[in-house]
Amino acid sequence: MNNISEIAQLGTPVLRQKAEAITEVSSLETQQIINTLSVTLASTQGVGIAAPQISISKQIIIVASRPSTRYPHAPLMEPTVMINPSFQPLSEHKEKDWEGCLSIPGIRALVPRYTQIEITYTDINAQLITMPFNGFIARVFQHEYDHLDGTVYLDRVEDNKDIFAESEYFKLFNN
Ligand code: NI
Repeated sequence: MNNISEIAQLGTPVLRQKAEAITEVSSLETQQIINTLSVTLASTQGVGIAAPQISISKQIIIVASRPSTRYPHAPLMEPTVMINPSFQPLSEHKEKDWEGCLSIPGIRALVPRYTQIEITYTDINAQLITMPFNGFIARVFQHEYDHLDGTVYLDRVEDNKDIFAESEYFKLFNN
């Protein structure tokens, strides 16, 4: 059985490091990281998680968009483990929308992201997958991908006035 991990909080050095690529998808170590990441994400209201958030500086993310109290309007998808992910924008167009992060509790901010991207990753069966993502799921992917590069969403905020306390953010949608 795997245990739920603590979530590394902003200020922890691992969140600012570049994560290492995975060389052996089927190794016990990789499988254990994926299991811990999965059960940890499932224990939260988050829609994605990256290995550095459980203090493991490796290139593994999970994208798991689902409606929740944190993201009431999120589309539903199967939680997808992505190893060594990368992406290319399919257009230069970006939009600002709200993001939060399990490593930065209590805060939300408007973040510009590409709206249409093509992602490439290795799946849990060591197959290379390429597919287009758009909208909210593309946003979640870019947020988690940034964690592998030592970047957090606040780094991409264009104006400090776009940063809200989570309590005020919820008031925007509760009228
Ligand atoms: Ni995050």
